[in-house]
This record gives sequence, C-alpha cells and structure tokens, in this order.
Amino acid sequence: MDKESPAVISAKFLTSAAAINQSPDHDLLEIAITGRSNVGKSSLINALCNIKKLAKTSKTPGKTRLINFFEVRVHNPDFTFCLVDLPGYGYARVSKTEQERWGKTIESFLLKRRNLVAVGQLIDTRHPPTPLDHQMREWLAHSRRPVITVLTKADKVSRLAGENMRRTATIELLSPYDPAPVLFSAVNRQGVSELLEIIAGFVTPTKSD
Ligand code: GTP
Ligand code: MG
Repeated sequence: MDKESPAVISAKFLTSAAAINQSPDHDLLEIAITGRSNVGKSSLINALCNIKKLAKTSKTPGKTRLINFFEVRVHNPDFTFCLVDLPGYGYARVSKTEQERWGKTIESFLLKRRNLVAVGQLIDTRHPPTPLDHQMREWLAHSRRPVITVLTKADKVSRLAGENMRRTATIELLSPYDPAPVLFSAVNRQGVSELLEIIAGFVTPTKSD
C-alpha cells in the first residue's frame, strides 16, 4: 500500500433530536445513515469511529428512535464532519401511527436538512433490497442526495455471496453517479477505510492540483 488509509481520531455524541427543528445549528457537513431496523446502523457508526458504545446498539429492532448526531474527526485526509444516526424503518412491532411519524421525521430530514451532503443507505448483505429499501431509494432520488450503498454484516456471508449481493444492489439501486456498494462488517472492520474514503470525497473540498 503506497498511502496511509484514513482513520477516525476522535468522535463524540453531540445531541439527539425528535424532529428536524431540534437539529444542531452548526456548520459541519453531515452524512446521514439510514436503513431498516436492525440492519446495523448504530454498529456501523461505532465501527467507523472505533468506539464500542458511542451509538447504542441492540438485538431488538427499533432501538434508535431519535435522530442522533455525532461529531467525527478524521486523519489522512484531515477533516471533521457529522454522522447522523436515523431511526430505522420497517419495524413491524411499533404502532402504525409511530411508524408514520418516524417516516415523516426521516423524510423531512432528508429533504430539508441543509448540512446534509450524502446519505449512507444500509442493506443487509444476506437479503436482496426489500420494497421499503426501494421506497427509501425513491425518496432519496427525489431529495437529490447522493447515496452510498453499504452492505452490512458481510462477515455473515461467503466472499462469493458478498460479491453477488454487490452486483444485485448495483443493478437494483444505483444511480449513475452513486459510488459502488461497500461491503461492510462491524465485526471484522471490513469496509471501514473504503467508506471513510468515500465520505472524505463528499465532505472535503476538491483539490485543483
Ligand atoms: P435500530 O436502531 O433498531 O434501527 O437498529 P440498527 O440498524 O442501529 O442496528 P444495530 O447496530 O443496533 O445492530 C443490530 C444487531 O445486528 C445487533 O445485534 C448487532 O450486534 C448486529 N450487527 C450489526 N452489525 C453487524 C455486523 O457487521 N456483523 C454481525 N455479525 N452482526 C452485526
Ligand atoms: Mg440504531
């Protein structure tokens, strides 16, 4: 390897918001993390930041019910940005009214939040994208946000199955300008540097040299 990989040097929880108007008033560019309940959003944030309990994770779906903001400092390249952990969608065991309320909160955040430069959509590597994943992708296309597709829990499948899923996700979900899907594991840290490099591309100014 001829160059060092990017790495997170520090990360901290900033605040929680139940609605977009409670979001922090700061200048940091934001990357939001979305995906169905239990897909591994909070675990991805912890793996990326290398802090075990920064974002609360759980075996029970529906753990993250608020929008949580984390300030993250990265070295090589050096930059600071904000990761936003969104409540998961498609969790059947919360009431319809509550699901609709979350849906509206997520939708308005994705459509209106000024600081937001890209969205990581997480899909479980073991299962093809669900109708809800497709619906979220349509919202995202409508919001004109670039999407980083992240295939989670890659440690649970063979390398071949992972590559097949990468192809499926590319065909089913990607727009021409979206980066190629990243195979990710919070257990063995596969995909951490790749994802940080993609994030750097969205939150650091482009060099002209
Ligand atoms: P909600 O907040 O409920 O929407 O869930 P979430 O998407 O934040 O999922 P969370 O990170 O809490 O993880 C859900 C479960 O999947 C936990 O039991 C995690 O330990 C497990 N998990 C997450 N990522 C991985 C991974 O990369 N590999 C494996 N094997 N398990 C994972
Ligand atoms: Mg969570």
